[in-house]
Order: sequence, then C-alpha cells, then structure tokens
Amino acid sequence: MTRILITSALPYINGVKHLGNLAGSLLPADIHARYHRQAGHETLFLCGTDEHGTPAELAAAEAGVSVPDYCATHHAIQADIYRRFAISFDHFSRSSGAANHALTQELFERLDAAGFIEERTIRQAWSATDARFLPDRYVLGTCPYCGDAGARGDQCEACARLLDPDQLVAPRSAISGARDISFRDSRHLFLKLAALAPRLRQWIEAQAQWPALVRGIALKWLDEGLRDRCITRDLAWGVPVPRPGFEGKVFYVWFDAPIGYIAAAIEWAARSPQRDWRDWWQGGDAVRLVQFLGKDNVPFHTVSFPATLLGSGLPFKLPDLIKGFNWLSYEGGKFSTSRKRGIFTDAALQELPADYWRWWLAANAPETSDTDFTVARFADGVNKDLADIFGNLVNRCLAFVAARFDGVVPADGAPGVAESVLAATLTQRLAALRSAHDAAEIRKAAAEARAIWSLANAYLAEQAPWTHFRGNPERAAVALRTGVNLVRLSAIVAWPFIPGSAARVLAALGEPDGIPPFPDACTALTAIAGGRTVAVPPLLFAKIGTEDAARIRARHGGL
Ligand code: MF3
Ligand code: ZN
Repeated sequence: MTRILITSALPYINGVKHLGNLAGSLLPADIHARYHRQAGHETLFLCGTDEHGTPAELAAAEAGVSVPDYCATHHAIQADIYRRFAISFDHFSRSSGAANHALTQELFERLDAAGFIEERTIRQAWSATDARFLPDRYVLGTCPYCGDAGARGDQCEACARLLDPDQLVAPRSAISGARDISFRDSRHLFLKLAALAPRLRQWIEAQAQWPALVRGIALKWLDEGLRDRCITRDLAWGVPVPRPGFEGKVFYVWFDAPIGYIAAAIEWAARSPQRDWRDWWQGGDAVRLVQFLGKDNVPFHTVSFPATLLGSGLPFKLPDLIKGFNWLSYEGGKFSTSRKRGIFTDAALQELPADYWRWWLAANAPETSDTDFTVARFADGVNKDLADIFGNLVNRCLAFVAARFDGVVPADGAPGVAESVLAATLTQRLAALRSAHDAAEIRKAAAEARAIWSLANAYLAEQAPWTHFRGNPERAAVALRTGVNLVRLSAIVAWPFIPGSAARVLAALGEPDGIPPFPDACTALTAIAGGRTVAVPPLLFAKIGTEDAARIRARHGGL
C-alpha cells in the first residue's frame, strides 16, 4: 500500500495569516490529506511555523518581548486558528525546535563533507544605531539606475533591477531609519548549487506531471544558471552554524525551514515506537510526496531544498508532485498585512463558520491563474453551492422522512430502472472525482463533488417521492430510500472540503464517527437500509444576504 506524505508550506511566524495563505497551501493540502485518508491510504500530513529570520526578530522587538516568547505565543495562536479551520495536520511543528536544529546542522555537515560548501567573504551592511548587520532588504536608499528613493538593498521595485546594498546612494536602515550605515567584511558559507545543477535539471525535466507554473519557474531558474547561494546570516536568532569562526552566525531561514518538514516527521515519529520517520522521508517509491505551496515558494522547493537533499548523500525522497498555487487577490487588489487589507484567518472565523470559507476557497482555488476574492462572489458561491444545492438536498429529503415516516427510512419496494441509470452515472462521476483528487486538482475535485450533489437533487426532483406518496407508495419508498442514500453519499464526497457540515449530516443519518471511506458506486445507493431512524440536522448553512456581505466588506478594507 502506498504511503502519502503531504506537506503545506510552513507559514511564517510573524502574525496571523490571511485567506490567501489558507487558499494557496494549507487548505488544498488538507483536502488532499483528507481524500487520501478516505481512500484508505496511509497518510502523513505535516506542517509547522517557520520561525527564524529577521521578520521574527523585528516582530518580537515591536511587541516588546523576547524572540522565543514571541514565537511560542504566535505558534499557539496560529495552531489554534488552523484547528478551528479543521486543518487536519498529523503534526504542526516549529522550525525553531530541537529536532530541526539538529537535522539542519547534520545536513550542513554532510553537504560540507561532500564538498558542496564553500567559505567566502562578503560585504554586509552594518547599522551602528541598530547595532546589527542588516539583511539586504532592510537597507533602503536611492537606486543608482533610476533614482527612485525607496529602493531596497536586494532590488529596486521601481525599475525591477537586482541590486547589492552597497550600490544604494545614501543608504539607511529600514529598521530605524538611521543613516550611519557602513559596510563590513563578514565570512559566510555558500551552498554550491552550480555543482548540483546537472542532477537537478535531470530530475526536474523528468517531472512531466508537475503543473506548468511549477515546471516553468524551476526551468527558468536552471536556464538562467544556478548561482551558489549564501546559506548563513549575521543574526542571533536561528540555527547556529557549527563551525569554528562562525560563532554568532546562523543559517539562512530558507536553508533551515524546509528541513523543518523532515524534523516534523521526526517529532511525529518520536511519539510512538511503531513509527519511523525514515519510512516516510526515505521510503523511496513506496511513498508519494506531495508538497503544497504558493508560487513565490517554488524556487526553494524545486531547486534549493532538493539540492540540500541530493547533496546530503542520504537516501531522501524528492517530491513526486510540487503543487504550486497562484495568488488570491482581494477585491481587485493585493491582500496587505501592513495596511490590514483583506480578510485574515482569525477575522474570517468571527464572520462565518470555517466551512463557508473552505468551500469557496477550494471551489475557486487559484490553481491555474490568480483568483480574485470578492465578498459578493464569495456570498454568491456559498449561497448557491452550499445553501441551495447541498443544504437543500439534505433538508428536503430528511425533513420528508421525518414528517411522513416518523424519521424511519421506508423499507418497501425494489430499485428499478431509474436507480440503475443513477448508479451508472454515479460510477462515472465518482471515478472523475477520484482522479481529480489523485491529481490534487482542487477546483476540479470541488466541481465533481458539487456535480454529485446536483445529480442527487435532480434524481429527487424527477422521482418526487412527495407526489407518489399516496398513489404509488412503493415507488415513493424506493425513491426516498435512494434519496437518503444520496444524502449520505453527498456528505461523504463533501467531507474533504466541508468536514464539519459533512460530519453533522452523517451523524444525523446514524453513520459512525470518524473518516467516512471513499464511496463505491455499487453500494452507495443501498448502504442505508429501510428501517433505520434518521434525524434532520440543524440548519446547515444560512444564506449570506446583501447586507451581511456589505458589512463584511466594510470591516475588511474592501473598497
Ligand atoms: N514561510 C515561508 C512563506 O511563508 C514558507 C516556508 S516553506 C518551507 O512563504 F519550505 F520553508 F518550509
Ligand atoms: Zn531603480
């Protein structure tokens, strides 16, 4: 049996994430993990917070607390939000944990022993006022090419040229604004990506099944020629560099963060003697590794992290599928953390239950292009798909059983032609749903699930047990019993997307708790036999009215 190892990009620790982060990695990874568990595959879904780097230091300073305290608090805040969104991690780790420190240092030492590390001297901006080295993008100044006064030390956004911080005219610190910037020599370690380029190219070129977005970005990097990358920083917070002369330096956050995926498995495995993390990360072809991430993360997952794994000489798995996502925009513009523009994950849950957001973000996932989230489109999608199609199916069918049959599923009659036609259609639809899930095509999977809900509604509308109730009670009984089974089936295919609502429906039907197995068309229409008592679940979805939508928009900076 195949093992499925799933990772979602580690969300950065510095504050609550917005809906774009949910839509572009956490949610699709969760849906994929839930589907594989339904399909009976052994599944391990890992994530954690990405805690090192300058932004964490600055956020802690701004909050007036130590960096470790800041990270502990914000890890707990994010973990709680994802729990409320029903993101079903097997483990939600922290890149600052002991396991990641140890593994990062070990992999560095192996890369070094294999000849993939080189020491070089670089010039680093030092801010006397801040009493620290400044990372490139924390040096601001005037662009030497276009004269824009707000250029960053890594790039000028006005003319898009790549820069080095010492090219800036009148440099200043982005942290304090101080102008007492000097440039000092500092020893650093480089990962020799160029030496690993042929192996990377060979691997990437063989990945025909990757999304075009991901392959395109990866090959572009290779075609431009891989530059050796500096993997150390003059910072206090991070994984210490285990080499004499490097006291007070740490690894670059993008070196240690992806290693955190493996450290998460090590922590998870340490909880039970039956588990071995190597069965997953070093499990060869018996494991399928699928990584979910936003498009800005693609180079790190297609090039630098695989280079770390390959160069270590250990038998690590490389990802089988790198599922990169485009951007989610908000009301025609960017989500902006600093300008508080857009809906943030904690605020979303104060507005509406998790399943409303989960459904819309899955059904409109920014998969093959960017997606614009507008409150109006969101309300429309939720009202149509969840309230009118799914909610209405459940309610109409189960309310009728309650009203006319005292809540007991009728046992009379035998299935006829309509039911065999339905079964044949379902066989096709379930196969299409399964293949969309297998390919991690989230929008398509959501559309296939919705198509099954619509099929169920159409069957009930045509067979109309409410009209045959007096004239042909046997036919009415068959149609209603089949309808109850279609409700069950609809909830099961809904479960990866809207697990809370699906579970409420399944509970009302008297189904066992836990993961509902992926349905089989042959048994799906008769799983619930006549005689079972079923309840009507409480209202599943309230419609989002025009005024509700206006209020949501007003509160979240949608102009
Ligand atoms: N923290 C990064 C971001 O938010 C993602 C890190 S993914 C990992 O863009 F690979 F480094 F773990
Ligand atoms: Zn410029």
